[in-house]
Amino acid sequence: MSTASKITLVGAGPGGTDLISLRGLKALAKADIVLYDALVSEELLQYCPQAVQKIYVGKRASKHAYSQDEINELLVKYALSHGHVVRLKGGDPFVFGRGYEEIEFAHKHQIETEVIPGISSAIGVPSLQGIPITHRGTTESFWVITGTTSSGKISQDVYLAAKTTATVVILMGVGKLAEIVRIYKAEGRDSLPIAIIQNGALPNEKVIVADIQSIENQAVEAQIGSPAVIVIGEVVSFHVDYSKFIKENELVSI
Ligand SMILES: C[S@@+](CC[C@H](N)C(=O)[O-])C[C@H]1O[C@@H](n2cnc3c(N)ncnc32)[C@H](O)[C@@H]1O
Repeated sequence: MSTASKITLVGAGPGGTDLISLRGLKALAKADIVLYDALVSEELLQYCPQAVQKIYVGKRASKHAYSQDEINELLVKYALSHGHVVRLKGGDPFVFGRGYEEIEFAHKHQIETEVIPGISSAIGVPSLQGIPITHRGTTESFWVITGTTSSGKISQDVYLAAKTTATVVILMGVGKLAEIVRIYKAEGRDSLPIAIIQNGALPNEKVIVADIQSIENQAVEAQIGSPAVIVIGEVVSFHVDYSKFIKENELVSI
């Protein structure tokens, strides 16, 4: 066990185990204790020393959900008692991950911190689906918005986003799909392409690609739920159906 107190926030990437960085794996190998979230692949825990305690602090039905304040307290408590705490978080720690709150709290207690970035679901999940969030000549920027704010309401930024030509990626937005569609329709964007990817990079991944006009029906039909990434913009029309591609190739090779 190392003696110096330290908290390392590690971005685990979205879904699949192998989307973490090499630096993230090295941190896990040097952990004295690990606190991990719901959207983190539990397979990653095999990369910590076997004797290391692994504590689930995510929000998942049937398990106790820790508040952010409780997590902050635990991080500091374990850094003081155990040494090196690895805080394993889904995607990137700073993209709607409340990572900075944890850093701030640690610093208040004079505990050293390090942040190891992760592939955010906002970029990685569309990318794995062959949706380029920027494409020369099509889009000059991308926005990442939370669909649901801390008060439970839709973000006002969605109203601004519906006016842009930027690619818009919405996290935590499935429950607000009807409102998102209404906002885009009010801007006359009915034919704009939109994709929803649920459980990105996981074996139970679901993808639907449609336009603003028809996405709600498709989402109901496909029984889309959380966690999901919503991508809105012309780049969605470039979506590559890899499964079809593989099937066609297999047919050719037979
Ligand atoms: C609290 S935010 C955390 C985001 C994370 N820090 C990141 O960079 O990806 C959780 C939201 O991220 C999105 N998300 C995370 N992992 C995902 C995945 N594997 N597939 C689809 N959406 C995902 C969903 O919108 C989910 O509700």
